[in-house]
Amino acid sequence: MRENYLEDFYSFLRFPSISTDDQYAERVAECAHWLVKRLTGIGLETQLVPTRGHPIVWARNKHQPGRRTVLIYGHYDVQPPDPLELWDSPPFEPVLKNGYVFARGATDNKGQILAHILGIQETMEQDRDLPVNLHLVIEGEEEIGSGNLGSFLNENREALKSDVAVVSDTGMIEKGVPTLSYGLRGVTALEIKVTGPKMDLHSGIFGGAVQNPITALAQMLATLHDREGRVAISGFYDRVKSLENWEREAWRKLPVDGDKLILKETGVPELFGEAGYNSLERIWARPTAEINGIGGGYQGQGTKTVIASHAMAKLTFRLVPEQEGDEILKLARAHLRKNLPKGVTMEITDGHSGPWYLTDPHSPLGEAAQRALRNAFDHDPALIREGGSIPIVSQFRGILGIETLLMGLALADCRAHSPNENFPLENFEGGIRLNKAILQELAH
Ligand code: BES
Ligand code: ZN
Repeated sequence: MRENYLEDFYSFLRFPSISTDDQYAERVAECAHWLVKRLTGIGLETQLVPTRGHPIVWARNKHQPGRRTVLIYGHYDVQPPDPLELWDSPPFEPVLKNGYVFARGATDNKGQILAHILGIQETMEQDRDLPVNLHLVIEGEEEIGSGNLGSFLNENREALKSDVAVVSDTGMIEKGVPTLSYGLRGVTALEIKVTGPKMDLHSGIFGGAVQNPITALAQMLATLHDREGRVAISGFYDRVKSLENWEREAWRKLPVDGDKLILKETGVPELFGEAGYNSLERIWARPTAEINGIGGGYQGQGTKTVIASHAMAKLTFRLVPEQEGDEILKLARAHLRKNLPKGVTMEITDGHSGPWYLTDPHSPLGEAAQRALRNAFDHDPALIREGGSIPIVSQFRGILGIETLLMGLALADCRAHSPNENFPLENFEGGIRLNKAILQELAH
């Protein structure tokens, strides 16, 4: 790997491009500008496309008739680094330790995006052109649901006409084992606000005579699951396609023991989840209801004898084929209303949504991806599904009519979204090789 690649990577990582927090909007935009400059510098025609939210970076080479058109997609926004005290080094001051680069976004998705860029750059340097027509679309709102990317695709449908999309924002089953992901879970979000008294009250003067909103919220949230981890919302599983035997068997032959991996990576005292499924099956093929945040009342040091006026919770549901986000939200809202204890009111706000995705890894394009993976890593590729979501992928199909090749480089211990996120240089280098290989494989 060339020496300046690491400096390049660090520059990209130093932008705190946190999309969810308005305070960082300026820094998100600076990161987008850096990309525009970087991509223009390697000879791509690049524009910054403003949106109602964070800008999209759109680059292309000179297109020639008769060549395949490839759309490479990724995101330059990152998740918030909190809680900061759990980081061993500051999240936006990248450091290299034992071959791993530590920083927020190192894996998700900046390291992988830079591997695309460097693969493209090296190919252009070697051959003076790419063997395909390229669209490179790097957005700044993936981590908040890609709310403005759909209209960008719609408005530029003709200009963006492509044969296939390539995305590296997914996982690698194990170090050294290249991975083609043929499925993603979908996701849909909602936020709950429970209100009791008109103000925070003295819990001695009023306690016992009014409902406590935090108690009410906790009781209601506790009805979302049974004790075995199954979601208890009526109708939740109605459209879920059962996992077929061939797929279960194929996953059992993968070179990882999912149960062991979960215990090791998460540090939980024991496995937990829906009965009848192992960990990989639970993550890749089963839907969930998760409470991602909960709040209310006094959180400071010591005690405060108070009954809070409000309590809140943030929920997301992971979706699998053939569940529909809108329908799940409707069922969830009805369930919450039905189980809301007396003495409080509730407001529910819908959040972002993104559908699940499933494609055929053995299509001609899937086989081309598998060849590129094999060439770049000198190892047979693993075929897996993913538990995570990339909301725009189903719109590549819906709006542009193209399938997506998900060829990611994130390892289970890369700590995406967690403190001490990291990316091994080995995968960075492998990613550059992979990008060169996929461009060649897609050329014919
Ligand atoms: N890279 C992830 C998605 C992912 C993670 C795919 C692991 C496959 C395996 C992506 O950046 C992400 O985190 N997406 C969010 C989307 C959501 C905020 C709409 C997710 O899955 O939570
Ligand atoms: Zn992410």
